[in-house]
Amino acid sequence: MSGQKYPKLFEPGAIAGVGLPNRFVVAPMARISADQNGVPGALMRDYYAAYADGGFGLIIAEGTYTDVASSQCFPTQPGIATEAQIDGWRAVTGAVHESGGRIFLQLMHAGALLANNTYGAPPLAPSAVLPEGEKSPRFGGSGAYAVPLELTRDAIEIIVDSHVTAAENAARAGFDGVEVHNANGYLLDQFLTDYTNRRTDEYGGALENRLRLPTEVMAAVKDAIGEAAVAGVRISQTKVNDFDHQWAGGADDARTIFSALAGAGADYIHLATRRGGAEVFASGRSLAGLARDYTGLPVIACGALHEPDAALDVLDRGEADFVSIAKGAIADPALPNKIAAGEAPVPFVPEMLMPLATIESTRIWRAENAAG
Ligand SMILES: Cc1cc2nc3c(=O)[nH]c(=O)nc-3n(C[C@H](O)[C@H](O)[C@H](O)COP(=O)(O)O)c2cc1C
Repeated sequence: MSGQKYPKLFEPGAIAGVGLPNRFVVAPMARISADQNGVPGALMRDYYAAYADGGFGLIIAEGTYTDVASSQCFPTQPGIATEAQIDGWRAVTGAVHESGGRIFLQLMHAGALLANNTYGAPPLAPSAVLPEGEKSPRFGGSGAYAVPLELTRDAIEIIVDSHVTAAENAARAGFDGVEVHNANGYLLDQFLTDYTNRRTDEYGGALENRLRLPTEVMAAVKDAIGEAAVAGVRISQTKVNDFDHQWAGGADDARTIFSALAGAGADYIHLATRRGGAEVFASGRSLAGLARDYTGLPVIACGALHEPDAALDVLDRGEADFVSIAKGAIADPALPNKIAAGEAPVPFVPEMLMPLATIESTRIWRAENAAG
């Protein structure tokens, strides 16, 4: 393997005026490694700085809760709501910048998929629909989900406001951008998804209505921090508790959804898929490719793109502008530098995230296996 084979992966790019030295992005990954108050410490600081040191052009930090009420998903998940949390993240962004990197923060509201909320809130969702599946032990959960409470109109306004405050807090903490988490089955995706959103008001029913909260949040976040920082969005069809979901209207829905998010001011679109380059809806394009075609925005593809040939193929076919890597980045935070040097990155094995998906689990695995 030689870096010379992949010059395109090492071409500089940009998202909304933020220059990126190459096409490698760290995908957001919950590592449940903050303290009990959701405050990031030295472990998280060093963990994120290692990705910058390892050559990733952009890091998108893990799904982080937006308020001290209902948004938290996992125990020891970081938040961006209290001054202590903001200070903790400021040390993280400082270390990443010192290493020459750039870092965005993913803003996340768990909605019905609340596994363990230390603030004692019940799960809130568009409708009182019992989520499929079970809470993941890998993230400190166990057993079935609870039936969530249906959000009132006033509570929906609070959700929009808390995303705005969280985005402002992220900018104060030194992040170069934020990513609204509209993917994988969490709150905003619950609004978008037909079977979790059974509302009969203007936030439910037709796709345009189910898109109302996602676009309100996107527009409000962009309004609040768009001058100071990047404001993007992550979206998926599949969910952590439903791997097979597809948008009922196929490519037409994709056009409506991507256009609405772009119209709401998203600076980029980040897909969450199992295989980033895979064709959808017999359209001849991947979901990332459709997002690019329909919006003209910078697009980040994700899903099994840690092999440089797969990543290059996605860029060569014009499916995306950037590739994000999750498990492959955990396995080897220096993946881009290794590819540039023609060396093989350490491959991912599930044991790196056992028994919990924490930074500490990976550190122990690495020490025991003398790798990386
Ligand atoms: C430990 C772990 C935690 C994750 N947490 C998040 C998250 O907080 N937000 C998110 O959008 N996706 C999350 N994901 C999904 C990844 O960002 C990515 O979409 C998925 O792992 C596929 O990419 P890969 O094939 O490179 O691993 C997580 C994945 C893993 C493995």
